[in-house]
Amino acid sequence: MKTAFINIKELIQIEDLPKKYVSGKEMSKLPTLKNAFLIVENDIISDFGTMDNLPNNIHFNSIIDVTDKLILPTWCDSHTHIVYAGNRVQEFVDRIHGLTYEAIANKGGGILNSAKLLQKTSEEDLYAQAATRVEEVMQLGTGAVEIKSGYGLTKDAELKMLRVIKRLEENYPITIKATFLGAHALPIEFKDKKNEYLTDVIENILPTVAKENLAEFIDIFCETGYFSVEDTEQLLEAGKRYGLKPKIHVNQFNAIGGIQAGVKYNALSVDHLEAMRDEDIECLKNTNTMPVALPSCSYFLSIPYTPARKMIDAGLPLALATDYNPGSTPSGNMNFVVATACIKMKMTPEEAINAATINGAYAMGLEKTHGSICRGKKANFIVTKKIPNYNFIPYSFGNNHIERIFIEGVEI
Ligand code: NIG
Ligand code: FE
Repeated sequence: MKTAFINIKELIQIEDLPKKYVSGKEMSKLPTLKNAFLIVENDIISDFGTMDNLPNNIHFNSIIDVTDKLILPTWCDSHTHIVYAGNRVQEFVDRIHGLTYEAIANKGGGILNSAKLLQKTSEEDLYAQAATRVEEVMQLGTGAVEIKSGYGLTKDAELKMLRVIKRLEENYPITIKATFLGAHALPIEFKDKKNEYLTDVIENILPTVAKENLAEFIDIFCETGYFSVEDTEQLLEAGKRYGLKPKIHVNQFNAIGGIQAGVKYNALSVDHLEAMRDEDIECLKNTNTMPVALPSCSYFLSIPYTPARKMIDAGLPLALATDYNPGSTPSGNMNFVVATACIKMKMTPEEAINAATINGAYAMGLEKTHGSICRGKKANFIVTKKIPNYNFIPYSFGNNHIERIFIEGVEI
């Protein structure tokens, strides 16, 4: 099955040789081709070029003319919590009335509120709720997504979440990566017994997660009032024994040394980073750890944005993700993330698109197959409506510029 897309106004994020990620000044370069073609063979990109080079000796099963439209790779959302039960709309209203995110958490709301409901929700129901969100993000142009556990906080409920993630991966064309986030918050039963809970996560839950092959990554909420740097190192050390690579929540509210712990354990990514000290930026230089910013979370909670400008100007790479979850970011819209990164974090459209595609792919270990228009990579791409250029995507924020979406060569 061969399909040719022809007369593409601009084909965005092309690569001849796949790269791992882009950092610093390189992030401002977004390679494109104007007046281009793209050839898809089954689920793979087989060729692209300018229209004057369109091969005339190939038989195509179908030819799709996309005059005046752009094509870009689907978004790679490397940080979400989309398997959850219900919602926390009441906390949203409470915050409007003046309560802070931390105050809500301290009175038993927040993550514990979601955990209580998820524990009571059947696996079937949880799957159905999460499946709706997967369908929703696919329609918004996301072609690969990472999903975390962490709203279970008991062995049964954590495993239930991870099985749901696995089933979603089996049933949807979108690529899904699973992360074990048992150390997301301290369950009420373990109040004042944090070490006991951590031991339970490490000795009771983690071995089963690994044995049943339910997660590739391990995560912890390293934050004042949640888990310390010491806890983080202990968990990452245990994760390493089971071959789980770290992708961790750090520096959301306080900079306490979580980034240093992540780098020490060769984390694939360190995520949030709203509170960054110069030494945190320094520590990330020349490492394999991708910093990930979550601007929709900053927007929703009215907390500072990750200092993207400072980080990129210091030569670091940066990825962008949604953080889709019921408490701090009830939105899985990568288009909004890209726009907010430009509007609020002063990233250029080129930097934001790189951060949401190739760098996001790297932050999930998917850079060889996703994140760019490259021969041999998955045929995952967005066909836009008739828009003047790619700058228009963040400029005209909150509007839908997507006309068609192809995942593994199939229109969804
Ligand atoms: O990434 N910060 C920790 N975890 C989530 C929010 C969890 C919640 O409020 O339910 C986050 O923002
Ligand atoms: Fe998160």
